[in-house]
Amino acid sequence: MDKKNNNRESWSGTFGFLMAAVGSAVGLGNLWGFPYKMGANGGFAFLVMYLILVVFAGYVLVMTELALGRATGKSIIPAYRVASNGKMTFVGIFSALAPFFIFGFYCYLGGIATNYAVANIGDIFGAAWGVNGVDGTTYFADFFTNQVKASIFTIIFMVVTIFIVSLGVSGGIEKFNRVAMPGLFILLLIIVVRSCTLTGAGEGIAFMLKPDFTVFQGSGWIHVLAAAGGQMFFSVSLGMGILVTYGSYMKKDADIALSGLAIPLADTIIAVLAGLAIMPAVFAFGMEPSAGPGLLFMTLQNVFNSMGAAGPFFGTLFYLLVTIAALTSSMSVLEAISSSFIDSGIDKGKGNQRKKIVWIFGLITMIEGILVSIDGLGTYLPPLFGRFCWLDGFDLLAEGLLMPIAAFCTVIYFGWIKKGFLQEEIRLSSTFKSEKFYSFCLKYIAPVFCFFILLGQIDSFFGLGWF
Ligand code: PFF
Repeated sequence: MDKKNNNRESWSGTFGFLMAAVGSAVGLGNLWGFPYKMGANGGFAFLVMYLILVVFAGYVLVMTELALGRATGKSIIPAYRVASNGKMTFVGIFSALAPFFIFGFYCYLGGIATNYAVANIGDIFGAAWGVNGVDGTTYFADFFTNQVKASIFTIIFMVVTIFIVSLGVSGGIEKFNRVAMPGLFILLLIIVVRSCTLTGAGEGIAFMLKPDFTVFQGSGWIHVLAAAGGQMFFSVSLGMGILVTYGSYMKKDADIALSGLAIPLADTIIAVLAGLAIMPAVFAFGMEPSAGPGLLFMTLQNVFNSMGAAGPFFGTLFYLLVTIAALTSSMSVLEAISSSFIDSGIDKGKGNQRKKIVWIFGLITMIEGILVSIDGLGTYLPPLFGRFCWLDGFDLLAEGLLMPIAAFCTVIYFGWIKKGFLQEEIRLSSTFKSEKFYSFCLKYIAPVFCFFILLGQIDSFFGLGWF
């Protein structure tokens, strides 16, 4: 790759691109965020709100970002600059900053998942490094307060991510996703079948699928909207330039309209399946469905501890699944960070310096991963912005502010100011039967949703208690 090759890279084909884009979307947001936010926001009611958002805003934003990337053939910052003659460069900068803030803490979470996978493998062999039946809450606390262990797992996870991304768009990211994503789907199905056939699983299934809208009462629906909206942005990887970057590697004959449908659809199906993998088991073992972020690393480990001899086996499958899902997402974050710099090297005639650039930025952002690790979820370092543990601080900066602002400005610009620009690009390679729906949502619906989501995020970021 370091050969003096002045060509931008591209996906080898539609399947590879789709696997990579779905790989970016499917991650901790689906396997962790979705089930616990659903648990905390009324189960079925949250699911309905989420689906509405995916159809009217997610679908539209995915196509918007992909079309922007492909139309300009550029990564995040230059894509916004070129498409707007400089007026929207600041949106590109916001979008490009978000992955910088996300990469470190996301790899920390990936590192935790890796540790759990390793520990559950240990349990299969009765090794000393297994979970060994230790209560999930205690095990988790022991992990995050052990700064050395947490840093080591975070670094391992980061190095694997950096290595794959350094191999290239089609030679690294796409190749890995082509195998990992179908594998992940099979693993998930195995776990769903196990979970839904446990005695007492019915209550968990009913919790997810039985219509009950009591949480919408009063101003409750705004809470649910903000929670589902924030979740959707993160889960579909919107507002942080990833899909702009991935779109810029699409060939001119690749169908954007179809991808716009396939990516959020696959992401949502996997989120629902993750709910069906987790909730029935949580109910079957009499645990709390709204146990917040602890659901994945405390409650579920307790579920596996309670499964007897089969526990470590299912624990290994589950945490392996989480690790792979996190890896395919973290790769896209690092690609979004590096691509603008790779492009700038190509533009200056220095050739494609992917390897060097990916390692440099991977190592720089590793500092953030280590800081989050040694903070021990707020145990050791002074709070960020005076209020948050470092993980939450970085997350809120990216997810709470930069991403929704970038998405809001994007739909306003392309819906109201540079009208028709993206539609033209999409039409190049698609029959684009949904053009009227797309244009309507881009102009009227997506901005309203984005605005409310932004308000909801600002409310929780600054603790304003508006809603
Ligand atoms: N969409 C991924 C998930 O659901 O976990 C997370 C993610 C990927 C977030 C890429 C941010 C990002 F830039």
